Amino acid sequence: MKPPIYLDNNATTRIDPAVLSAMMPYLTEEFGNAASSSHVYGWKAAEAVETGRSQVARLIGGAPREIVLTSGATESNNLALKGAARSYREKGRHLVSSATEHKAVLDTLKSLEAEGFESTVLPVDKEGLLDLDRLRGAIRPDTILVSIMAANNEIGVLQPMEEIGRLAGRPDVAHRPQGLWTERGGRPLRPAAGTQDTDRAPHRRRRT
Ligand SMILES: Cc1ncc(COP(=O)(O)O)c(C=O)c1O
Repeated sequence: MKPPIYLDNNATTRIDPAVLSAMMPYLTEEFGNAASSSHVYGWKAAEAVETGRSQVARLIGGAPREIVLTSGATESNNLALKGAARSYREKGRHLVSSATEHKAVLDTLKSLEAEGFESTVLPVDKEGLLDLDRLRGAIRPDTILVSIMAANNEIGVLQPMEEIGRLAGRPDVAHRPQGLWTERGGRPLRPAAGTQDTDRAPHRRRRT
């Protein structure tokens, strides 16, 4: 049977040949566990992880110690949202996000509500864009976090992250763009001013 044309690249996509070739040594000969510090296989794997961390930092204009590698976007969302909310809880308990965020974000907000946080989930217009006036109106004195995806994983709409960063840019509001689909014109989108954390999933780095 002739397979259908694959049109689900937003869900996941074919690995970039350059990524495959960079990874091949670690999938074949250099397969050590980076946490195994008592032998050379582990040392080599740890060295490769640190090289990757530095490369990602350079790509987005950060420092290697700021890059936290996780198993995927669901874990990143949980780590970032719960980490920020819990560490700012003495300042306030209000979180802001949008209705078109991934379930991994919306479910994390629900679980934070069960811990006593309150969230405002803003609607989007028919183009999938957030209304910046509504966002401005939603930010309250007790708002500690604004979490908006830079580019939507279903429809690809790009939110105005610079403006959102400025609106959320009060020093006491953590701004958290989610960046799965943030490449514009082949360039990675760097976190906007005021951004405290951003996450990316590598398996959608490239459309084929
Ligand atoms: C925007 C967004 N966030 C989170 C996820 C969950 O990603 P993962 O499967 O890496 O946990 C996805 C994947 O579908 C996504 O598109």
